[in-house]
Amino acid sequence: MRLLGLLAVGLLLAPPALAADSPPPKPPEALAKGESLYTANCSACHGVGARGTAKGPPFLDKVYEPNHHADITFYRAPEAGVRAHHWKFGDMPKLPGVTKDDLAQIIPYIRWLQKQAGIF
Ligand code: HEC
Repeated sequence: MRLLGLLAVGLLLAPPALAADSPPPKPPEALAKGESLYTANCSACHGVGARGTAKGPPFLDKVYEPNHHADITFYRAPEAGVRAHHWKFGDMPKLPGVTKDDLAQIIPYIRWLQKQAGIF
């Protein structure tokens, strides 16, 4: 009995699988283009699955849910760059290669990731 109890405690205390190491959730087909554009243009800093890196914040943070950062801010950031204000990663540079059409695909993918993560 005591052994079982210890086992149960061990299971409860076992750390959950490290999210950063697991692959990001696979989006529905309609978001596949957004995912590849995100991977090509944003993930170097904002991370695979929007989990963040040493160079940029995760979008799976409450601060980026639609009521705090509406889609317009997601259109503006690559166009104008972002002066560091929420974090200590430094500024986000302008990304002149990223078009409005690209963002119209990227943003729904980011929103979908946020939904999967239960941000909103
Ligand atoms: C070279 C690194 C880098 C790349 C590439 C990058 N970002 Fe960023 N981004 C940052 C950093 C750093 C911040 C945080 C600035 C701060 O302190 O608030 C940021 C912040 C943002 C914000 C928040 C803006 C605000 O008003 O607070 C949005 C939205 C954003 N990025 C969107 C994007 C999108 C979309 C892409 C891809 C098209 C992208 N970023 C690519 C580094 C990057």
